[in-house]
Amino acid sequence: MENKTYEAIYRAHTNIALIKYWGKRNQELYLPMTSSLSLTLESLYTDTAVKFDAHLEHDTFILDGQLQDAKETEKVSKFVDLFRNFSGINLPVAIESVNHVPTAAGLASSASAFAALASAINAALDLGLSPEILSTFARQGSGSSTRSLFGGLAMWHKGEGDDSASSYAEQIDDASFDIGMLIVVVNNQKKKISSRVGMQHTIETSPFYKLWPEEVAKDLSLMLAAIEEKNINKIGTIAEHNAMKMHSTVLASNPSMNYFEAKSLRAIELVQQMRADGLSAYYTMDAGPNVKIICPYSQMDQIKAYLKDDFSDEQLIMSRPGTGPYAISKLSEPLEIAYE
Ligand code: DP6
Repeated sequence: MENKTYEAIYRAHTNIALIKYWGKRNQELYLPMTSSLSLTLESLYTDTAVKFDAHLEHDTFILDGQLQDAKETEKVSKFVDLFRNFSGINLPVAIESVNHVPTAAGLASSASAFAALASAINAALDLGLSPEILSTFARQGSGSSTRSLFGGLAMWHKGEGDDSASSYAEQIDDASFDIGMLIVVVNNQKKKISSRVGMQHTIETSPFYKLWPEEVAKDLSLMLAAIEEKNINKIGTIAEHNAMKMHSTVLASNPSMNYFEAKSLRAIELVQQMRADGLSAYYTMDAGPNVKIICPYSQMDQIKAYLKDDFSDEQLIMSRPGTGPYAISKLSEPLEIAYE
């Protein structure tokens, strides 16, 4: 075994939650307070190559061409340990990732990152884990990555108690109807308050947090019915309301915090305007200032037209629903996103 190398390269797409995950009941195992549901996006993804090799002195991690320091590498090593312990294959690993997502700008790069890494390790070590089981591993890297193991619309179940196996994700619908997302990149800088820290602060200090789990439960059952009907107006309305309930819960934390920037509010205003003009467009936001517009893919050009005076073409990323992770033959070049 010592001289054998184990390698694979995988691509995983990011996802944007329509029903948000905001809060853990178990921080060590990343068990969430609520279930959540998302749309996987074709346009944003992470490619990751792994090579387990006895000749390596220690784990290494290269992200977008940059060798990461000991602290960053250790986070990833801890995650890989889950698989080393499970498989008994205790070899050092060289990891190289290329993000096609503006990192940490609220576009959930951790979702595609851990889904790609988990998928590559699963293939390299020939573990044969199903996407559902793999999602319970990915979860322990980043909660939202559970849903990136599936294409289309995916749901991450909150599970029971401290039982890790019961908190897995699965596909709800392949989203092969006229749905898409337009991402308005308000700011591609690293977010000020990570979701991990932000959600914990909200749990600890927001008096509204106690309402959140019951609101999510209600929204989820409405959302599942809307998806069954493939009714984009219902899907969008429920998603928009759910996101704003999350953000108002965040606003009510103490000291107060929020993820809005002036340009986020401007994008929201424009969505309201296009909707008043008869378009099917709904907004959602995550732990960053970017606004994501849920709409029929067929209306994307009309929707973009409303935004063009305030946002450059590079700030508007259109996406159809994406697939679950798949093997690729080589790593792609890092994506250059040019805007101020
Ligand atoms: C607002 O999955 O990034 O995007 O589990 O701590 O890594 P950790 O958090 P993360 O949180 C995502 C929060 C969200 C909503 C969502 O994707 O459901």
